[in-house]
This record gives sequence, structure tokens and C-alpha cells, in this order.
Amino acid sequence: KAAMDAGLLHPSSPSVILTQDDLKKIAAYKAVEYVESGMVLGLGTGSTAKHAVERIGELLRQGKLKDIVGIPTSKKTHEQALSLGIPLSDLDSHPVVDLAIDGADEVDPFLNLVKGRGGSLLREKMVEGACKKFIVIVDESKLVNYLGGSRLAMPVEVIQFCWKFTASRLQNLFHQSGCVAKLRTFPDTADPFVTDNGNFVVDLYFDRSIGDLKAASDSILQLPGVVEHGMFLDMATTVIVAGELGLTLKNK
Ligand code: 5RP
Repeated sequence: KAAMDAGLLHPSSPSVILTQDDLKKIAAYKAVEYVESGMVLGLGTGSTAKHAVERIGELLRQGKLKDIVGIPTSKKTHEQALSLGIPLSDLDSHPVVDLAIDGADEVDPFLNLVKGRGGSLLREKMVEGACKKFIVIVDESKLVNYLGGSRLAMPVEVIQFCWKFTASRLQNLFHQSGCVAKLRTFPDTADPFVTDNGNFVVDLYFDRSIGDLKAASDSILQLPGVVEHGMFLDMATTVIVAGELGLTLKNK
């Protein structure tokens, strides 16, 4: 049913193989069912969130949603929302956000997240930290037993000044977890990736569990030069997971 709602299946040919992007779209469409007219909405960033933003634009155009104010979590989402005619604002004018919808890179069994492989972690954390309800939308590949366990990057946004020094302090902090810290660069040019806020991203890779997440978060944030990290602890209120066998809703 969710796939039909997202326009991916037709009742006359209900057996299509769904791609990962289809699953992202299904989760996004389900999340947008929670959007009501008059809401202030946090608009997420990434290939999953983009489907939600698109759907919100469509419902506004059709007159099925009214008086929405969107707060984008990146310049890219700002551009997308503008092109769809979604009225936009910011946290200065709307410090309380009713609902945010965004993707994630990892989701653990307690609904803690890794975010920011798209590089928008700081604005995402600001907007999603200001919202009453935060719905995370993922395909099932994002589910992990513990954060950092996917052996993929745990992003940390750092200021450009002496970034090598900050990266080496980050790596030392987690040496017992076999941490390797790498500056995020573009693969084709090797130029550093620069965030919307003009900062660099140092990606942390772990061999073993980092243990207590709250302690890890505190110790990262204590390092001068660090702006924010991509662990979103105890922030998601609902996670919608789209998988081959259907949709699962996990609530805090
Ligand atoms: C961007 C993010 C994204 O939400 C996260 O990377 C998931 O992206 P995608 O939906 O493309 O898999 O945190 O900073």
C-alpha cells in the first residue's frame, strides 16, 4: 500500500522490484502524512529527505496543505524548497519547529543516529534540536546494532584553522576504538569538502565500538576547533523504516 501511495506500483501490476531509492521515497511519503496545515516544518537534507520536500511541495500546489513554513537544513534544501514554492523562514523568526523530517546514515536500536555524511550536520542538528517532533526516514540498510559499527564515516565539522591538529586530537580521543580520522575531500579533485558554514569535515572511522555515546559526544564537543558532530542522541521521536517487506514505525 505504501508503495502504491508513493506512486511506485499500480494495482494492475503490483509486483515490481523496488530500488533503494524507491524505499527512500516510500518512507518519505509516509512521513509527510504527519504534516498538517499551519505547521512550521524542518526540511531535511539528502536523497531521502528530498522526496519528502518534493511531496510537501506537491501537496501545497494541490491545495491539500496550507500555510506551511519550511526551515531548510542546508543551502541545497533551501534551493529545492524555493523551486517548489514552499514558503521559507529560519530559526530566528520561528524558534519552535512543529515537525522535522530528515534522513539518517545510521539508526541504532535506541533511535540514536549518525547523520552528516551529506555534510549538513550542523544546520540539521540546530533545526532538529528545536522541533517538537522529529521523524527520521530511512531504508532498512541504515539500521545498525551500534553507532559507528557500519565502518562508515562518523562526521565531525571542524573549523579550517589547524584542522590537522583537531583531526589528530579526535583520532587520539578514540585510539582504543581503532579510530582513523580523515579530512573529507572530493574524490575527483582531492579538494577539501567545505560545509555551508565554511568549515571542514573530519570523518572518523572506527574498528571497534566507541562505547558510551554520551561520553563520546561530550569529549568531542570539548575539543576546541570542533563545531559539531554527527551523533544525534535521543533526538528522533519516530523512525520510519522502509524495507522489502514493508514499512516499520519505531517510536521513542
Ligand atoms: C546529510 C544527512 C543525511 O540525512 C544523511 O546523510 C542521509 O542521507 P541519504 O538520505 O542521502 O542517505 O545527514 O547531512
